[in-house]
Amino acid sequence: MTKNNSRGDIQLIRSRLGSDSIVLIGLMGAGKTTVGRRLAQKLGLPFVDADHEIERAAGMSVSDIFEQHGEAHFRDGERRVIARLLETGPQVLATGGGAYMDETTRHNISARGICVWLKCSHKLLMKRVRKRGHRPLLKTADPDAVMQELMDKRYPVYAKSDLTVVSRDVSHNTIVNDIIRTLHSYFEPAEQENK
Ligand code: S3P
Repeated sequence: MTKNNSRGDIQLIRSRLGSDSIVLIGLMGAGKTTVGRRLAQKLGLPFVDADHEIERAAGMSVSDIFEQHGEAHFRDGERRVIARLLETGPQVLATGGGAYMDETTRHNISARGICVWLKCSHKLLMKRVRKRGHRPLLKTADPDAVMQELMDKRYPVYAKSDLTVVSRDVSHNTIVNDIIRTLHSYFEPAEQENK
């Protein structure tokens, strides 16, 4: 799944997508923002990060929202912001790790988007999140155990996504190409089999 994608593949995805969004889901550290930005660039689509939009709407950081107003308040804002963003496709939309756990958000995503789960091992997630300490859910004595609990709880729900791409410890470009190939075979299954 590492071969480069052709212009034709990209055009097909763009035309089948119409005004829907490609929505990236997955745990903290899965690479949704970094990979999403590059994916958007390659597809010639705008990139939007839901957490950044929530921060902009609230005028404060995600950490501060959690600290000053609590997680439930953050989740309300997250649900509203994602519903609004989904109205303005086509685009690549990266969501925060908890967004897809909300039933309304799952429903909105399936109505207006193609959902791609960036599935990632515990080891790689921890390697990535350790580099930055801004995530409120991981500000605990045992972030490894919290991450494992989140995987146990969320992976069965993430599995409802339209597509799954394994986020490995390889270049972001490789993952972007994997996503494009996966999207292409989703839109054009028979053609992909003959490639
Ligand atoms: C969260 C993930 C974060 C952010 C918030 C809660 C979660 O986003 O939305 O800290 O519940 O997993 P990233 O997945 O982009 O880190």
